[in-house]
This record gives sequence, C-alpha cells and structure tokens, in this order.
Amino acid sequence: MQNHRDQSIEEVDKYHIVATFYDYLMRHVNYQRWFKFVSVILRKHRIKPGRLLEVACGTGTMLTQFAADGWDIVGIDKSAAMLQRARRKLPAEITDKALVVADMRTLKIYGQFDAVICLYDSINYCMNEKELTAALKNMLANLRSGGLLIFDICTIYNCRHNFRDYYEREFYLNLDYTREAFFNPANNRQTNEFWISRDGQDKIIYHEKHVQQMYRITTVEKVLLNEIGGCRIKGIFENYTHRPGSEKSERVHFVIRKE
Ligand SMILES: C[S@@+](CC[C@H](N)C(=O)[O-])C[C@H]1O[C@@H](n2cnc3c(N)ncnc32)[C@H](O)[C@@H]1O
Repeated sequence: MQNHRDQSIEEVDKYHIVATFYDYLMRHVNYQRWFKFVSVILRKHRIKPGRLLEVACGTGTMLTQFAADGWDIVGIDKSAAMLQRARRKLPAEITDKALVVADMRTLKIYGQFDAVICLYDSINYCMNEKELTAALKNMLANLRSGGLLIFDICTIYNCRHNFRDYYEREFYLNLDYTREAFFNPANNRQTNEFWISRDGQDKIIYHEKHVQQMYRITTVEKVLLNEIGGCRIKGIFENYTHRPGSEKSERVHFVIRKE
C-alpha cells in the first residue's frame, strides 16, 4: 500500500468519490426489506402515502421505492455527488424539485410532511449533542402534527464488535478502494477511511475520511424529550425488527410522532 502521508493524494469531501461506488459498497443491505419495515410502521400509525422527506437520502435507493409507492417525495443530502447518483434512479419529472443539497443541522422547512425518514446511521454524522439536537429539531419542524419521524443509529456495540479494526479492499469498475475502519472507545467515534486508486495503478490518488459519533439510546431519548419536546417516542426497535432495541443491538430504529 502507498504511504498514506503522500502529498500527492487529494483529500476529497465525504462521499465525493465514494458516491461512485456507494451502491456497490452497500450491496449487502436489503433496502427492499428496509422499505417494507418502514412502510409497515407507517401503516401501523395510519400514515397513508402522502408527502415524504428523506434526510440524508444518499443515492436515493429508499426514495425511489417510496416514489414508486405513490409518495410525493423530497430528498436532501449534504453531498451533491450522492444526489447526482439519486437523480439517475428517479423518473425525470420529479428529480429537479425533489433533490436538494442541504445540511440536516441547518435544514430549512420544506413543508409539513406526513413522514420524515433519516436512515442508515446518517444521524451519526452529527458530531455532538448540539448538532444532534439541531438535526432532530429540524426534522420535526418539517413534520405535520401527527406525522412520523423514523431514523436509526448505529450503536457503540456494533462499532466495538464489528468495526473496531476493520479492513477491506475492493474493485469497482476502474476504481480500487481500500476501506480502513477504526473505533475509538474513548470518545465513541467511528472513523472510516477510503484510499482510492484508479485504472489499475498502485498509486493512491484520493482519500476520504468519514468520522461518525455513536450515541447511547438514553442520550437520543433525552435530546428528543428534554431538549426538543413536542413529540412522543412510539417505538425503539432493533435491526429491522419489532423487537425492543437495546445497547446490545447493532442498529436501533426510533419511531417518533410529532404532537
Ligand atoms: C451512510 S450514507 C446513508 C445514505 C442513505 N440514507 C442510505 O440509506 O443509503 C450517509 C449519508 O448522509 C449524508 N450526510 C452526512 N452528513 C450530512 C449532513 N450533515 N446533512 C445531510 N446529509 C448528510 C451523506 O452525504 C450520505 O449520503
């Protein structure tokens, strides 16, 4: 492997190059099953297909399924490169107004949506409680009264057990990427670094560094109920099931109703 301190390596924004192979990277994720999981929760709470906002929608895999199911969708993401990929998946007539580059921590109000979703530990990109509070507050501000917010967090347990010291090398089209993951238990931060080379050459040309903050369930509950208010926690589930979520779950899904 190339020396990581090589000055010629270009430091790029998060997801700028990863957007190219993000869907390949995520090929183990069953988005159809996830879509069904979210749809069942929405139906259970009598939310019919209406207006849906997906925060941090990435390459739009979930958004595409909601659009096909008759929802009027809006997707926001901080990465223009990820949205560019999403644009390719959605029917042309809905793409321009439906995809917006925005930051969840400073999100404006796009409407009073029936449902707001933020999936695949995107919320873990909030690096402290202040940012977490701002992001969740903004999501709730985009919900109508009685609407549902569904989001998930990656847990400390998951990072400790599966990503404490993780390495993979993969090839996608003309790109060759190495992912190095490291979890720091001192501050509960997970770092994923991507070292990318091109056209079969050994020389690494791009570097992306992603740092995420892990939160305890009690911290998220405190933020929602004490810092923000005006909402009820309707469910805390583990790993795409309706079993109660705990600190020993790998992923915890929150279902929140706006009062
Ligand atoms: C792990 S990906 C998840 C994408 C998509 N939700 C999915 O399920 O495949 C995380 C996404 O969060 C976005 N993101 C990170 N920080 C963000 C922020 N502050 N505001 C909006 N989006 C953000 C990234 O650009 C990326 O698309």
